[in-house]
Order: sequence, then structure tokens, then C-alpha cells
Amino acid sequence: LRIGVFDSGIGGLTVLRALHRRWPGHSTIYLGDTARVPYGTKSPETVARYAMQAARLLMDEGVELLVVACNTASATALDALTALPLPVVGVIEPGALAAAAAAPTPDAHIAVIGTHATVQSGAYQRALARLLPAARVTALACPLFVALADEGWEATPVAREVARTYFAEWIKDGGERPSVLVLGCTHYPVLKEAIAAALGPDVRLIDSAETTAEALAPHLDGLPADTSPTHRLLVTDGAPGFLATAERILGRAGLSFDVVDLPATH
Ligand code: DGL
Repeated sequence: LRIGVFDSGIGGLTVLRALHRRWPGHSTIYLGDTARVPYGTKSPETVARYAMQAARLLMDEGVELLVVACNTASATALDALTALPLPVVGVIEPGALAAAAAAPTPDAHIAVIGTHATVQSGAYQRALARLLPAARVTALACPLFVALADEGWEATPVAREVARTYFAEWIKDGGERPSVLVLGCTHYPVLKEAIAAALGPDVRLIDSAETTAEALAPHLDGLPADTSPTHRLLVTDGAPGFLATAERILGRAGLSFDVVDLPATH
């Protein structure tokens, strides 16, 4: 099968990497909208329009299954995208399912971190309320994490300090640490260590990249693998700054991206 993976930028390569590991026999086309990243600060209407344009381009490329790797686009545009004539898998539901499964008790404190748009959409909060109604769910926007990951600063004292500052309410004396934390943004798995260092060892971190790769099972289980799977990488802007980060996230050097223009939908 040819799987399309879409993100606002290159953070979604965390999801692509998990897909390659879990489903090595299938072809992939990754599209990062580097010309218009970030989505996390934009309105739901704009994100939905961008996501639709990206989906149409990937469909023109022959994609048969679409993975919305971007949490912001999944949180705000999945309903619009599911009207398209191909299966669409977002990252919210798989992440929420994994968080509910990891909760030590039905009334556990589950925290979700993501962009402003993801937190404001309430998508994770709704999914968790449905799956685990007694859970106490808090959601927190951590936009600086995206910049830290893009800059390659994920393993620095600055990253740990930013994490401690964001999580101050939870980690102060008398504060209530979550027992499960959903990394609800493509870039956050890159900062796992700094986040874990700030919260301590008892917090279970949910990486929606891995859980999303697993969520493709109903679509891919039992399908024959491609005889020679191909992998293409597309971006909407080719300014060289992103390449080193992309190679670090995907864990491979010598990547080459084709630059494409997205079709207008209206
Ligand atoms: N890809 C976005 C997400 O997962 C993060 C970057 C952005 O704001 O576009 O929410």
C-alpha cells in the first residue's frame, strides 16, 4: 500500500520513523508543510484548509491511506478530512487510547501537552473523557518545546529548565503530578528525556508516534507487502535550515526532499 503522512513541518518524521519500523513492507510519501509551519498558533479554519490541500496533493500522488501526523491538524481538521474517499488516521484517538490503557486507576490524573491550537480544540480532553470518564484530565500548551527541538537543543539544560517551568504547578511542593503524560505534538518525543527529567520517573509518557503506527493495523494487517517499497519526502519550502533536524529525527543522513506547491482547494 502507499501510505501518505502529512505534518505541518518535519516534526511528523517521528511518526514516519515509527511507521517504517512497524510496517517496513509498505511505501510512504511524507509531506511537510514547511512553508506554513507552525499550525499550532493558527485558527482551526486555516489549519483545516491547509490540511485539505495537503491531503489532495497526497491523493494525486496515489496515496491509499492518509496518516495525519500533526496533532494540531488531527485535533482541528480530522472531521473535514474523513469526508475524503480514503481512510484517514489521526494521532489523537491512538494517543488517547494508549493514555487510558496506561492509567494506573480509573480516576488517574492524565495530562496532555501540545500546541495552543491542540489544547484549545479540546480534542484530547473529549477523547479521554469518553474512554476514561472518571479520569482527571489537564491540558497544557508548551509551544517552546517545538522551537527547542527544531534548534537541536533537546538535550540541553535550557530544555530541562523550560520543562520545569511549564510543569511548575505539577512539580511544586504539594502539586499533583500526572501519572500519565500524552506527548500531544509531533516534536515532543524528541524532548522525552528533558520532560522525563522534569517530571520524575513515575510519570508514564505516551508517544503518539508509536501508538499511531499501531493504529494502522486494521488497515494493513494481512495485506501483502510491496515488492520494493519506495519512500518519498516532500516539503512546501526548501530553505536548508530544516535538513539537519530532519536527519536527526529520522535517524538517517543524506535525506533528499522534493519541494512541491500545494493545490488551492477554494
Ligand atoms: N506538528 C505540530 C503538532 O503536532 C507542531 C508544530 C506546529 O505548530 O505546526 O501539533
